[in-house]
Amino acid sequence: MKNNNPLNLKKRKILITGGYGILGKSITNELIRNNAKIIIIDKKQISLKKNYRFQQKGIHYFNADLRDIEEIKSLSKKSIFKNLYGIINNAAIDTPPKQNRVIKKFFDQESKYLDEEINSNIKIYLNTCRVFGKILYKNKIGNIINVSSIYGMLSPDQSIYKQAKLNFEKPISYTIAKSSIYGFTKYLCQYFKDRNVRVNTVTLSGIYNSQDRNFVKILSNKIPLRRMMRSQEAAQAICFMISDYSSYINGENIIIDGGYSSI
Ligand SMILES: NC(=O)c1ccc[n+]([C@@H]2O[C@H](COP(=O)([O-])OP(=O)(O)OC[C@H]3O[C@@H](n4cnc5c(N)ncnc54)[C@H](O)[C@@H]3O)[C@@H](O)[C@H]2O)c1
Repeated sequence: MKNNNPLNLKKRKILITGGYGILGKSITNELIRNNAKIIIIDKKQISLKKNYRFQQKGIHYFNADLRDIEEIKSLSKKSIFKNLYGIINNAAIDTPPKQNRVIKKFFDQESKYLDEEINSNIKIYLNTCRVFGKILYKNKIGNIINVSSIYGMLSPDQSIYKQAKLNFEKPISYTIAKSSIYGFTKYLCQYFKDRNVRVNTVTLSGIYNSQDRNFVKILSNKIPLRRMMRSQEAAQAICFMISDYSSYINGENIIIDGGYSSI
């Protein structure tokens, strides 16, 4: 018998930050398929009809900048957030490799990059947990997932860009920001103890997104599965982590990288 709803998220309300992005859209589709109610906060304007396979069914969208804690504090007073169950901290900024993308290299990079990453990749996770995490804390039930990157755990291999003839260097600011997520998760795991709230990190490697073909080939060669990740594969892992199928996993880092970090 065909089972389209294996994890059954029981109509629980789940907030996805950055739900309009590449991964956010896949997570939304996957969670809706598994019977969740979705609330998206994203700074981009969005057309639900165009972007989600399951259209408006069970999806609420708010256009807000998560760097602005006052803006999201007033948003959190809306009745829809009352029985929030899950938070997926996914919104972030990144600088993917592009031919001749101008980013000053390590020794010359201005501190504005780091300031931006701290504001956009650390502070927004913190703001989200302070404002919406409080609801979970009070309700004594919930689940928080913090999305990190393999480049927060390991150094990017800058030689891949060189081999692909992209005049590009992955900035250290992304590694600094994403590596902080591990401590952030552990801290919150302890802070939410006794409150029936689980907190975990999900670490992801590169997702296909029309990257330079040469770059994809060279990167894939470093991955035991010999390919990059499809966004749906990351979404399925996140769906498992938000479901009761992972009910005893807490304070952990789940790595989804096709084996990239095994050496
Ligand atoms: N794409 C990859 O290869 C990859 C690999 C590893 C980890 N990740 C992580 O996965 C997550 C999602 O990445 P993605 O590739 O979907 O990125 P994306 O750029 O496609 O999506 C990010 C979304 O976050 C939103 N956003 C950013 N700052 C915001 C703010 N201040 N307020 C509200 N919304 C904001 C953006 O508008 C965008 O829609 C990120 O945490 C990223 O670090 C991605």
